Amino acid sequence: MKMSRRTFLMQSGMAAAATMLPASVRASNSTGLRVRLAHDLLRPQYHLMPAANWMNDPNGPIFHKGRYHMFFQYNPNASVWGNMHWAHSSSPDMIHWKHEPVAIAPTPNGWDRDGVFSGCIVLDGAIPAAIYTGVLPPDTPANATLKDGQHTWREVQCLAHSHDAHLRTWQKLADPILARPPAGLAVTGFRDPCVWREGNGWRMAVGSGFAGKGGAVFLYSSPDLRQWTYLNPLVEGRSTGQTGTNPVDTGDMWECPDFFPLGDRHVLLISTMGKVLWKSGHYDGKHLTAEREGVVDHGAYYAERSMLDRDGNRVLWGWIPERRPEAEHRAAGWAGVMSLPRVLSLDSDGQLEMVPAPVIEKLRGAPARVRGAEADAKEKLDAMRIHDLAAELYVECAPDRPFTVDLKSETGAPFAEIAYHPAANGGELRVNNTHATVSTPKDEALHLQAFVDASVLEIFVNRTTTITERIYTAVPEALCISMSSASSLRSFALWPIKPISRDRLTT
Ligand code: FRU
Repeated sequence: MKMSRRTFLMQSGMAAAATMLPASVRASNSTGLRVRLAHDLLRPQYHLMPAANWMNDPNGPIFHKGRYHMFFQYNPNASVWGNMHWAHSSSPDMIHWKHEPVAIAPTPNGWDRDGVFSGCIVLDGAIPAAIYTGVLPPDTPANATLKDGQHTWREVQCLAHSHDAHLRTWQKLADPILARPPAGLAVTGFRDPCVWREGNGWRMAVGSGFAGKGGAVFLYSSPDLRQWTYLNPLVEGRSTGQTGTNPVDTGDMWECPDFFPLGDRHVLLISTMGKVLWKSGHYDGKHLTAEREGVVDHGAYYAERSMLDRDGNRVLWGWIPERRPEAEHRAAGWAGVMSLPRVLSLDSDGQLEMVPAPVIEKLRGAPARVRGAEADAKEKLDAMRIHDLAAELYVECAPDRPFTVDLKSETGAPFAEIAYHPAANGGELRVNNTHATVSTPKDEALHLQAFVDASVLEIFVNRTTTITERIYTAVPEALCISMSSASSLRSFALWPIKPISRDRLTT
């Protein structure tokens, strides 16, 4: 977990705010914190995030009655982890968001009294049902499933229904639908349910694992979302050989499983050791036999959750965590950003592919373009500017030659260096200090798409490689673009990107 239990307890005594903007921010109106947040040059302008305070995992994204709904882990009282609620935002298009009132809060003395942790939403008949992990103090030491060196908690799986068309109000079932992990198993955790329809019933995958043996995903079945029977592990990992007090850091606990059919196979995503991992293969109703696996994003990206968009595409969301010291984001008054939506597919070999959702193009302004073959390509690139740290870049290059794209302020302050080295480690992409392997077939050009949004830089290369980088350089002036080896350049395009709100509060 992300903060000390002592701080958590101090904060969880505070009343849950009714909206995502805490009273302190609302009251200050045109002065103080609100103004500071609205003018914070590090706050992204077209990524979803709460107006203030801490967010982490996306929860239960769903397209329902003509609107997209996104819920996410949220602390209404501070910009550090703790006191988890489900915040709620809705959107007509997955890109323009409206903050809704907080959807699910801990119930005093309830099964989720210490936190409404991550989960999913499915339609129970026509009624949206949220299945999430409730967290509470263990009544006996044997009931503790979460022990990370800072907290000792019992985790149970809970169910709540929403009977309003806007998914603003939720009624919880009095008791958990799963009160403990499978009998006889000593687990490293028991959380983040992912539920889907299968045949005439339901299946649920829950994140777990075994100390010293690796992570695991438990598979359950149910006829009605209420009575659940444990089947077996959907997938079991192997020990990473790492030791430590927090099983998430050693890879012995898999958080946030997400499981779905894609193409002619199934895909499992899990989060552990600070990364989201994918596995693709064949599912026989009990086990996933994984044939291929990899890393979803090599940068700051965690706790993924997917959904089907209005056209039936599999769209992935993830939490972009902070990469600066806690004291800094506590002082800033905000922490955490939702990734842009990514459309998933599998190639014929079962390789996971990912592209930014085409709807993001709605935000583009007029492009500036240059072709590598043009005699004045360098002059044209030199004249381009990125304003307000909000832009999309597209670079197409020869796959067999290295190149570097440098983004610097007009006064020469470095912002980002994006480098491609085909010879290093079989093909390497580097964004500042973050590295990823890119293997590009010789006959295919290198296609790079980069989204600059204040302190977030999301980069996609050839459908297979992504890096999300955090950059805490508040640049008040425009950014300039330079390319080291313009000879490998085939084409380049730059679009200014329109903010999704009038200020940086994204409301
Ligand atoms: C992942 C996670 C989940 C948990 C939630 C709590 O970031 O640790 O496993 O449900 O965050 O906020």
